[in-house]
Amino acid sequence: MSVIIKNLKKAYNVVVLKDINLDIPQGQILGIIGKSGAGKSTLLRCLNGLEQPSAGTITIDNQSFTGVSDSQRRRIQQKIGNVFQNFNLLSRLTALENVMFPLKLLKRSSHVSRSKAMELLSLVGLRGKEHTYPNQLSGGQCQRVAIARALIGDASLLLCDEFTSALDFETSLEILELLGNLNKQLRITIIMITHDMAVVREICDEVCVLDEGRIVEKNDITSILLHPQNMVTKSLIRNLVNKDLPHSLQDSLLQNPTAKSTAVLRLFFSSQAAGEPIISSLVKKYDSPINILFGNLDHIRETAFGCLIIAIPYDVSKMNAIMRDLDHKDVSAEIIGYLPQQGGSLWPNS
Ligand SMILES: Nc1ncnc2c1ncn2[C@@H]1O[C@H](COP(=O)(O)OP(=O)(O)O)[C@@H](O)[C@H]1O
Ligand SMILES: [Mg+2]
Repeated sequence: MSVIIKNLKKAYNVVVLKDINLDIPQGQILGIIGKSGAGKSTLLRCLNGLEQPSAGTITIDNQSFTGVSDSQRRRIQQKIGNVFQNFNLLSRLTALENVMFPLKLLKRSSHVSRSKAMELLSLVGLRGKEHTYPNQLSGGQCQRVAIARALIGDASLLLCDEFTSALDFETSLEILELLGNLNKQLRITIIMITHDMAVVREICDEVCVLDEGRIVEKNDITSILLHPQNMVTKSLIRNLVNKDLPHSLQDSLLQNPTAKSTAVLRLFFSSQAAGEPIISSLVKKYDSPINILFGNLDHIRETAFGCLIIAIPYDVSKMNAIMRDLDHKDVSAEIIGYLPQQGGSLWPNS
């Protein structure tokens, strides 16, 4: 289903969503990312009809979802599946019964819903687990049951709120892969909300950044990662990169440089720039030692990108020139912090 949001506002005692405009084509996977309290869950609750917007309109598949009768809204709601952080499974029902539950509420024939639920459980990789209870399933398996349940009404729009928060990273990746496959096979539109850039970069086509009730940036995931514009986006990416740094180093990173500090830079470049001797040419041109702290090949969906974290003795004028040079080479560079000492060992515990 396609979703068009126009001038959406939501206020309780305070204004939570200020002026949201979004155009989500059928089949897209959109990531909405932002810090805690930004208004993400509120936006999602407006989209699934649990909340009424204070102003603005939502159009789903060319049909009005706001300012319409309850029955019209419910008809659209039936095609919207929801996946939550805590799975929200009923503990006294088996996996199969949980998946069938929405149809039971609609008083559909249990014979038909049973075979449909069996089919969906096998689609999400849970064949053989039909009669298992939630407390005997792992977190990842519970989330699979919840996804199957979200799809039982032939949902063509899936809304996911922080749905990987209760899972470890490996399991999150498996669930993301499952969602990616469902998106391809069933052509469902997916809107996922998270505070974690590591989640959206795995499968999202487009990403928008929500901050204090406004969308402050929206772009394809590659552009967001390579050329973030907004401060909030940059800080969310910094969190992503900081996970790659050794803990001892993370802990000693300072926000501001001191007289003799070392700047730690994150470089992010596409496969074209990866062929060039970027580091050695910087060393030569600026006569500056450069330490590589971390390097890997990163993937954004199917494209390979290089990521390097380097340390350079801090010097204001050199630093600005280096940043300009990198920019010309189409390398996205950002100073992610400073280490207190210059020279000597960069590694506090070595
Ligand atoms: N039902 C409500 N009544 C009053 N304030 C609310 C309600 N729901 C959310 N808020 C407020 O709206 C803001 C955004 O909340 P939320 O949408 O949950 O953010 P996020 O999901 O991005 O963390 C918060 O300041 C929160 O306190
Ligand atoms: Mg939330």
